[in-house]
Amino acid sequence: MALLTCTCWLVFSQSNSLAQSIKRGQEVFNITCKNCHKENGLGQEGVYPPLAKSDFLTKDTKRAIGIVIKGLNGEITVNGKMYNLDMPPQTQLNDQQITDVLNFVRNSWGNKGKAFTTAQVLQLRAASAANINK
Ligand code: HEC
Repeated sequence: MALLTCTCWLVFSQSNSLAQSIKRGQEVFNITCKNCHKENGLGQEGVYPPLAKSDFLTKDTKRAIGIVIKGLNGEITVNGKMYNLDMPPQTQLNDQQITDVLNFVRNSWGNKGKAFTTAQVLQLRAASAANINK
């Protein structure tokens, strides 16, 4: 019984913290990403790719984190359409803000996906710093 209560509490607190992360992430999005990817997450055809229902975003967690940390350039295809502009790295954001904004975009506009964690962001940031120093 004690174990059951404990497990339920854990599940509750985790989903609760995801909800809070999404909420904080919306503020980060409005300040940092909205100018390009737009409030409705649809971006601008041929210029800024959509985050809403983006197959590119949902496919690969590490790549999604990497895009925010390192930016993105070169040709990409999102939902069957081609984009080829530069997204600057969002280096002003800390690990928590990156986690929050990705949780927001992965759970908005009909998107649904696994939660990002600050541990994943930290790990990738460390790995990319190691690459730069090589
Ligand atoms: C200055 C405009 C700009 C800003 C600000 C910006 N992006 Fe982007 N983003 C782009 C462009 C342009 C691309 C496509 C790059 C390419 O063609 O290689 C892109 C691509 C992406 C992709 C991969 C493609 C897709 O649609 O799934 C993701 C994910 C993404 N951005 C998330 C974000 C998030 C999250 C933020 C805010 C933290 C952000 N972007 C801020 C311009 C921007």
